[in-house]
Amino acid sequence: MDKQQAQKEINELRELLNQYGYEYYVLDKPTVPDAEYDRKLQELTKLEAEFPELITEDSPTQRVGGEPLEGFQKVEHIVPMMSLGNAFDEQDLRDFVRRASQGTNDKISFVCELKIDGLAVSLTYENGRLVRGATRGDGTIGEDITSNLKTIRSIPLTIKETGRIEVRGEAFMPHKSFLALNEAKKEREEEPFANPRNAAAGSLRQLDPKIAARRHLDIYLYGVGEWQAEALETHSERLNKLKELGFKTNPEWKKCKTVEEVMEFVEYWTKERPNLSYEIDGIVIKVDNLKQQEELGFTAKSPRWAIAYKFPAEEAITKLTAIELNVGRTGVVTPTAILEPVKVAGTTVQRATLHNEDLIREQDIRIGDTLVIKKAGDIIPKVVRVMEEKRTGEEEEFHMPENCPECGNELVRLEEEVALRCINPNCPAQLKEGLIHFVSRDAMNIDGLGEKVITQLFREKLIHTIADLYRLKKDELLELERMGEKSVNNLLQAIEDSKENSLEKLLFGLGIRYVGSKAARTLAMEFETMENLQQASFEDLIAIDEIGDKMADAIVKHFAEEKVTNLLEELQQLGINMAYKGPKQTTVEEDAVFAGKTIVLTGKMENYTRNEAKELIEARGGSVTGSVSKKTDLLIAGEDAGSKLEKAEKLGVAIWNEQQLKSAIEG
Ligand code: IVH
Repeated sequence: MDKQQAQKEINELRELLNQYGYEYYVLDKPTVPDAEYDRKLQELTKLEAEFPELITEDSPTQRVGGEPLEGFQKVEHIVPMMSLGNAFDEQDLRDFVRRASQGTNDKISFVCELKIDGLAVSLTYENGRLVRGATRGDGTIGEDITSNLKTIRSIPLTIKETGRIEVRGEAFMPHKSFLALNEAKKEREEEPFANPRNAAAGSLRQLDPKIAARRHLDIYLYGVGEWQAEALETHSERLNKLKELGFKTNPEWKKCKTVEEVMEFVEYWTKERPNLSYEIDGIVIKVDNLKQQEELGFTAKSPRWAIAYKFPAEEAITKLTAIELNVGRTGVVTPTAILEPVKVAGTTVQRATLHNEDLIREQDIRIGDTLVIKKAGDIIPKVVRVMEEKRTGEEEEFHMPENCPECGNELVRLEEEVALRCINPNCPAQLKEGLIHFVSRDAMNIDGLGEKVITQLFREKLIHTIADLYRLKKDELLELERMGEKSVNNLLQAIEDSKENSLEKLLFGLGIRYVGSKAARTLAMEFETMENLQQASFEDLIAIDEIGDKMADAIVKHFAEEKVTNLLEELQQLGINMAYKGPKQTTVEEDAVFAGKTIVLTGKMENYTRNEAKELIEARGGSVTGSVSKKTDLLIAGEDAGSKLEKAEKLGVAIWNEQQLKSAIEG
């Protein structure tokens, strides 16, 4: 293909991909299956690889690119990014409306919007291209976080507008992303984020855009800073215009003419707030007419034409009926408050975190106490204080038990830790949690084995250890509730397939303290076999860049345990692969042909064995799994492909033949 033709095809693909992306991320109404998007992106990636001189910053392939930054550049906001004054009740709102009405001669109307709880950012476009994304900073000087903001898929990289336009909005982390992120953090024994706002801010402050990309942020645009060519009269027209330009705007805004209408909006959202998929902390009320806004002007810090109504702190009073103990995978025993059900901001709360015994002591929380609990942005409710004035004398002090509530083994407090731990390696609660971890996606990724099925298998005493998973028999599985022939077959196949996983998956699955999936990969790559790693000394381990003292120590201790040695021996005998199969180089480029793709191989190939194909794909950033599911991005079908091909067709997964694979591999 000549360059001119390539440019033409590239332009068409970009336009199509932008359209698909817009439908998916902005409108939330995809018109094509994900696989179709991926296929087109693949095509574009390939073309751009052939003609690198045609790659531009605003290509859909360039959302996550570039090297980590050393630090953020400072940027100046020509139009300052102000904050808003607060209103806490109806009276404050009436005062605001009165002041605004007095400050202008004409009739006044307002736009009420949701106050998204995230991080104010500014996006600058020049001649239709996103050239800069920045934080608010102190309002005058912010930080250039363009590469992080580009990873937010609902931010258009190009718009159809000439000249210079700077738009403003709130970047935020939806609840779903927040929960997943904190779950992963917990898994790695890292401190979770307290709320989605902190998580969003933390993500956008990452110097490596690849991290921000994994955090799945979103954005709503709600205003304009500089705009040379603006010819609009009202804020509501601006919102419509922003939407027309392809920006994601929050649909829940309303034009209001009276305080009563404003109050109605406020009251409605106070109730509806828990049903949103993201956090809001109030309502913003803005004078609609832009001329009137100008007339009203600003105080030193905030505009006189807008105000933020803040939701009251979401507190409630309830009784502590019991304290439940949960044993996690690593044996940490955490107390949870069991509460008399109470409504807080629309949702019923029955549990609150108590963290650990020290905190229970500090707050002097007793069973039977009346508590003030709070459900802020934090999602998991917390105890604010004990209402001592409500005590009857019947309340009971709580003491952590000396023994594990699950297995009865003595609990210990490890040095420098507040938490109590059960260190019985055979504690059933830990074993179960450990198994759930073992089969999870980043570990052995066994499809069809989630928390529910593991719990069921555990309850029926079909499994006790990891090795038992590989000894499950068809007839015993068939006897389980809700397990038909087909799901049993699939399950057994998925378990069988997992035997072929590369070492890092097994290593991560073992749940060694501090060893997350990334460290597992590094270890697998460095040591290549489980045996080598088992023999590694503390010094061998800390010689590796990413492995610190704490992790090295944990690894050595882990492999010194007889139980672990026995388990690994058993696993080996059961046919579980213990060698690293991935690429030799340490990093796969983010723009590699198969970067981030989950690929399934089926049928016979002429040029490669299954393993060769797998290695070649992994070397180009893809991961190869055993069975086709919704998560599969691509099926590569050789000769005589059977049921996997059928399933892929049914699910609309992209399908390649061997020749397509070959040409992608050969670049
Ligand atoms: S308008 C001149 N609209 O709230 C001020 N702000 O304290 C323009 N926020 O920094 C702000 N949702 O981070 C506006 N719909 C919305 C908002 C919103 C959230 C945040 C924003 C701002 C803060 C105001």
